[in-house]
Amino acid sequence: MRRLYVIGIGAGDPRQVTVQAIEAIGRVDTFFVIGKGEVKRELTEVRAALLAEYADPGHRVVEIADPPRERTVDSAGGYRDVVADWHRRRAELLGRAFDDTDGVGAILVWGDPSLYDSTLRMVERVLEAGTRFDYTVIPGVTSAQSLAAAHRIVLHEIGEPVHITTGRRLREEGVAAGESTLVMLDGECSFTQLTGADLHIWWGAYLGMPDETLIEGPLLAVRDSIVRRRDELRAAKGWIMDIYLLRRS
Ligand SMILES: C[S@@+](CC[C@H](N)C(=O)[O-])C[C@H]1O[C@@H](n2cnc3c(N)ncnc32)[C@H](O)[C@@H]1O
Repeated sequence: MRRLYVIGIGAGDPRQVTVQAIEAIGRVDTFFVIGKGEVKRELTEVRAALLAEYADPGHRVVEIADPPRERTVDSAGGYRDVVADWHRRRAELLGRAFDDTDGVGAILVWGDPSLYDSTLRMVERVLEAGTRFDYTVIPGVTSAQSLAAAHRIVLHEIGEPVHITTGRRLREEGVAAGESTLVMLDGECSFTQLTGADLHIWWGAYLGMPDETLIEGPLLAVRDSIVRRRDELRAAKGWIMDIYLLRRS
């Protein structure tokens, strides 16, 4: 393989796919799908619909199964080691798949590859391990942008910073004064552990998808309805993706 595209496809709404992404998809011979076992049915369908509409009819899809990931970790250092080991094993599988492929390859990435996605780190590892190819990154609309647009908000106060973090880090660090905090990858409703009466939350699930759900308000007033709604949605669909912004008023 001589060229690889890493293509951001937006965070759920197929109309978020950019013209640049569509042009790249049309040039690809082989699409690599990583970790299909963990990808939920709707997400797989979004990708399949994109390929049906924009890819060359002769394209191939190569699925690369995810190596199993150790889930029990007792510290932040342990967590990083586990993730690094998982990335290394994923990169080995990817390198072998690249070596076996001619022409132009692509990996489609949910949202944008720059935000909580390991694809670019894996691609760098494959290059370091000796497989030779050029690669190009095509940006996509992130779930952070989708959340801001759905709630019609700016992510930060005028001239102030925005902090992007995970549910796990929010539980450890809370929300700093003077900072807006955007939380992703939170399977545990970590906002319920915050007590500040001055906190406001803008929450969104399945953004850009038919089941998009939004709740916004003072944290202490709306947190129980978010937890309840989240449980109902997850029970009905079998999976959920949500993201939220917290800010002190
Ligand atoms: C592995 S990260 C991938 C983020 C992605 N690269 C992006 O640019 O948005 C997955 C997290 O993104 C957020 N997310 C992605 N798509 C979403 C959507 N359509 N609605 C709500 N949250 C979403 C959730 O917090 C989810 O846990």
